[in-house]
Amino acid sequence: MTLKKPKISVLGIGYVGLCTAVGFASKKYAVIASTHDAEKAEKINKGIPPFHEPNLQKLLEETIQNGYLKCLTNQTETAVLETDITFNAVGTPSKPDGSIDLKFIETSAHDIGQALREKSTYHVVVVKSTVVPGTTQDLVKPILEKESKKKCGSDFGLCMNPEFLRQGSAFEDTVHTDRIVIGEYDKKSGDTLEKVYKDFYGKNTPPTIRTTLSTAELIKYASNSLLATKISFINTIANICEKIPGADVKTVATAMGLDKRIGPLFLNAGLGYGGSCFPKDVKALMAYSKNLGYSLELLESVENVNKTQPLKAVQFCKTLLGNLKGKRIAILGLAFKADTDDMREARVIPIINQLLTEGANVTAYDPVATPVAKTIFKNKIQYATSAISCLKNADCCILVTEWDEFKKLKPEDFTTNMKQPILIDGRRIYNPETFREKMKFAAIGLGN
Ligand SMILES: NC(=O)c1ccc[n+]([C@@H]2O[C@H](COP(=O)([O-])OP(=O)(O)OC[C@H]3O[C@@H](n4cnc5c(N)ncnc54)[C@H](O)[C@@H]3O)[C@@H](O)[C@H]2O)c1
Repeated sequence: MTLKKPKISVLGIGYVGLCTAVGFASKKYAVIASTHDAEKAEKINKGIPPFHEPNLQKLLEETIQNGYLKCLTNQTETAVLETDITFNAVGTPSKPDGSIDLKFIETSAHDIGQALREKSTYHVVVVKSTVVPGTTQDLVKPILEKESKKKCGSDFGLCMNPEFLRQGSAFEDTVHTDRIVIGEYDKKSGDTLEKVYKDFYGKNTPPTIRTTLSTAELIKYASNSLLATKISFINTIANICEKIPGADVKTVATAMGLDKRIGPLFLNAGLGYGGSCFPKDVKALMAYSKNLGYSLELLESVENVNKTQPLKAVQFCKTLLGNLKGKRIAILGLAFKADTDDMREARVIPIINQLLTEGANVTAYDPVATPVAKTIFKNKIQYATSAISCLKNADCCILVTEWDEFKKLKPEDFTTNMKQPILIDGRRIYNPETFREKMKFAAIGLGN
């Protein structure tokens, strides 16, 4: 006999919430997503993802059409009452001082708690958002208990289940994850969630770590902080390479990565890390730790390297071109990384701001992020509709995002279209030997 699948609700329909919702719905779980944003809900119910994410559209369409997924607006109560497990994936942004802003966690816990008051059957609440240690136990649980007038552990369950997906492969990462981390308030809560994942992943269930709520919370921060550290580390090696004739950070990283203790991933030197997670999570862990009386000096350095790294592109530009006043600079890539239209903390933002301060005219092109860029830079820059039109009559080009489309560009595309063929490869996607022969070329981590 096959057991009945639990019904799932998801609050917060960003990258994490939508991929979780579509993931479960694609495996025939009945899923109710709930958001505050009516426009977003309307798009989702038409099968249109509200952001660019490869491979999501088709499954979203399918799951909406076959009725496994529906999205409600401002109806947390219905979402909780009609389901057995609620995944909370609301945003956890930074406050101006870098510490975590838990206001969405608080309001959503409040809404879930009120709904639980009306509920007669056992329900498990799962915090999926990235939250600092202690949040689930000391903030979410008391709100749930107060609002529901019920007892955590006996009347309802509570887990913390961090998410490790990467934007750009978010859906793939949801359905094939390396590990599952379940922080549990009590054994019954953890057993319930583990059973769901065993059913979801079947024979391919990855290693599952069951632990306390606060350890689960810390695992997420420790993971992102180490990845950010690897990036800043290789960028410091890149900065040394630039001072050593004949040195190339790419070869250094390839050789380092062959060491099993190090591994090849996250050793791509470039203009630094951006996005909605690494910058905010590193800052939140630093602020959290400082509050405990322990200053995370290692992460302070990681952050400092990441702050100065994008501005190196402007420095290269000035070295090769001289004064930037009135010069036309072509920017290839606006998104914080390839395969997304997310520009949160994108490295291109400080680069363009600095170019504008120096009096340059900026034209930018990105395969998908231009509409987002327009909300940031408005009419301060020009927007091209293709890479080639972006290069036309430019005095210098800075490659900022490693889109596949840009990898296909040949030296001739730059030499025939630009006023002065000067290229700065901020992501190390071009072969220096081929490009150096044809134009002035500088790249992160390349000695002269
Ligand atoms: N984006 C990633 O790659 C990623 C990966 C792993 C973990 N995370 C973490 O997951 C969480 C969500 O990240 P995201 O990138 O999906 O966020 P996001 O900002 O894209 O989406 C969060 C959504 O929550 C909604 N929301 C806020 N309060 C709500 C409420 N009370 N009820 C319903 N909806 C509400 C917002 O309108 C927003 O649409 C964050 O804590 C983040 O750090 C993100």
